[in-house]
Amino acid sequence: MECITTVNNNGIEEQHSDNINAANENNKDRLIEQERRILSGMRPSGKLHLGHLHGVLNTWKSLQQEYRCFFFVADWHALTTNYDYPQAIPEFIDDMTLDWLSIGIDPDISTIFVQSHIKEHAELNLIFSMITPVSWLERNPTYKEQQEELRQKDLATHGFLGYPVLQAADILIYKANKVPVGVDQLPHLELTREIARRFNYLYGETFPIPEPLLAQTPKVPGIDGRKMSKSYGNAIFISDSEEEVVRKVSEMITDTERKRKNDPGDPEKRCIAFNLHKLYIDKDRLCEIVEDCKGAKIGCVQCKRELADAINSFLTPIRERRREIEASKGTIKDILIKGRDVAREFSEATINEVKSALWGV
Ligand code: TRP
Ligand code: SF4
Repeated sequence: MECITTVNNNGIEEQHSDNINAANENNKDRLIEQERRILSGMRPSGKLHLGHLHGVLNTWKSLQQEYRCFFFVADWHALTTNYDYPQAIPEFIDDMTLDWLSIGIDPDISTIFVQSHIKEHAELNLIFSMITPVSWLERNPTYKEQQEELRQKDLATHGFLGYPVLQAADILIYKANKVPVGVDQLPHLELTREIARRFNYLYGETFPIPEPLLAQTPKVPGIDGRKMSKSYGNAIFISDSEEEVVRKVSEMITDTERKRKNDPGDPEKRCIAFNLHKLYIDKDRLCEIVEDCKGAKIGCVQCKRELADAINSFLTPIRERRREIEASKGTIKDILIKGRDVAREFSEATINEVKSALWGV
């Protein structure tokens, strides 16, 4: 029988296009000398789920050892779509930071901070807004898409149009060379590169041209089979209890043509739960499950119980770390303050350089 290979969660793929290669050549000498610096951020939108974990968070985690990493909570960016209810954002910041720490984003080696604590992001955003043509922003595909998607909200705002300019400021204020992001963010990163080039052209070489680092993200289905997403209500959260995991997995859709245990199943083609199995169950056992399911030797209830157990053992160390962090009062606040102080040293240095480039003094 042909066996399935499990998905590699940590594989990271560098995005290369012709213009990126060309930019690489130009920047080569400078980049070799420069520190290898990573920056990435997420909007605080509440609890994170397994889709985040196997996607961008695992990428962040694996980059920590090799690069100088800055990870930040994009709370100003959250205002672009949630300006009508900003009161929820402070709690989301804490929830998200706790999720990061629990999965192993390590504040001793990475700098973790909140965007709005560093006013230089806003200052650089303002300067970049002077040199960014509106047509570049109107061309941004996410601008139109999100307006369509969130039609109940008025997103014809200056801030929403300027979202990628602020993102460019986030990245360039730390002179990041690499930015781990999902595919959906590639147009934003291309804009960052264009803004950096334009600034360098107008005022002299100041910024590196950052490159995206694309995480190879395995498909993580939610319990209804659609992509796992908080807004679909189909997510298993990193912070879910053992019981919640058992309950949610038991609700997952399996091979619907398999009415009784005696009916042979087709895990690869027809079972949603099986896609999650691939992430949590080792290859040998996975092969046995395929065989047993096709041969009607295992029932879905038992099979999903095994999956829930596997997810729970995977989450055990994460839950333990979460409990430790929660037990030491003030931890999150302290970490974010420490991160702010470190980040500020970098952001102040860059803004000073920007000012001399701009005013020639
Ligand atoms: N736009 C990103 C998102 O929605 C969040 C973000 C803001 C970001 N600034 C950034 C990501 C800078 C990487 C780098 O996920
Ligand atoms: Fe899916 Fe397992 Fe049921 Fe087969 S036995 S259909 S793999 S849940």
